[in-house]
Amino acid sequence: MRLRSLLFVPGDRPERMAKALGLGADALILDLEDAVAPSAKAAARAAVRAFVDANAGAQANGGPALFVRVNPLDGELVGDDVAAIAGAAMAGLVLPKAEGRASVAALRAMLPGDYAVLPIASETPRAVFTLGDYDAAGLAGLTWGAEDLPAAIGAATSREADGGYTDPYRVVRALTLFGAHAAGVPAIETVYPDFRDLDGLARYAARGRRDGFTGMMAIHPAQVAVINDAFSPSEAELAHARAVVALFDAHPGAGALQLDGRMVDAPHLKAARRLLAAAGE
Ligand code: COA
Ligand code: MG
Repeated sequence: MRLRSLLFVPGDRPERMAKALGLGADALILDLEDAVAPSAKAAARAAVRAFVDANAGAQANGGPALFVRVNPLDGELVGDDVAAIAGAAMAGLVLPKAEGRASVAALRAMLPGDYAVLPIASETPRAVFTLGDYDAAGLAGLTWGAEDLPAAIGAATSREADGGYTDPYRVVRALTLFGAHAAGVPAIETVYPDFRDLDGLARYAARGRRDGFTGMMAIHPAQVAVINDAFSPSEAELAHARAVVALFDAHPGAGALQLDGRMVDAPHLKAARRLLAAAGE
């Protein structure tokens, strides 16, 4: 499953869910949690179930993979969420306020079938200390959030005046990145809330890709193409990767070689192969 862009859609907005199918997102996250008011939860569960049932084949036809974000495990809402979607043909579940592999296993045990889980793995203070605990079993990837944790600890904000993260959230972002790679699953960058600022989004997503994230969550249709572009290799990157692989193929047994005046060795070859594999070559 390719996961460059994952678009959130509130679960109580059927017309938005229908529209989201055709926006080019790799996945939709049909939300039953924070985007849905308490009074709308029941209607949202029914709407999400109906939508998944009606569009189970979307992914097979080149459409998005369907994920459902349930409510946190420690609350009263998740039981009804799970009951409403049990047996539906979604690709996976998004688990907010996740706290390590035990929480992934607990969610998977709540419903029949074998759904991959994408934990939002940084939303409670305890969660921060479980970011190295995940393993690949049943995991679709690992992602983080910068909104719930400051609220949980009484911080005023997670952001500097210029929009960059404060130090605590830089740490959490980095731990999520390494936690995902330690588990061997995709590292998914968090949302960029200022959805009218597409230039800022492009810079943010480019930084994420540079750092080793392979996809990102979106909240607005306009963000999808920018994110897909940021997490797709450019022609120049592909050409360079092919050149690195060709160079080592031409010199079997070589450790370090030079390409255009720069040293290339095992990590460069590994990175080139990873890039080409991700691009389907
Ligand atoms: N999915 C599908 N369609 C969406 C969408 C989304 N997430 N967000 C906006 N749209 C559609 C609107 O329906 C509208 O369609 P129309 O032109 O056919 O009327 C169009 O895109 C433009 O929307 P716009 O007016 O720019 O945004 P808005 O003010 O109506 O909504 C948000 C802004 C943030 C409320 C909305 O983008 C949204 O709900 N995002 C997801 C929120 C969410 O799920 N959060 C939880 C995780 S952080
Ligand atoms: Mg939240």
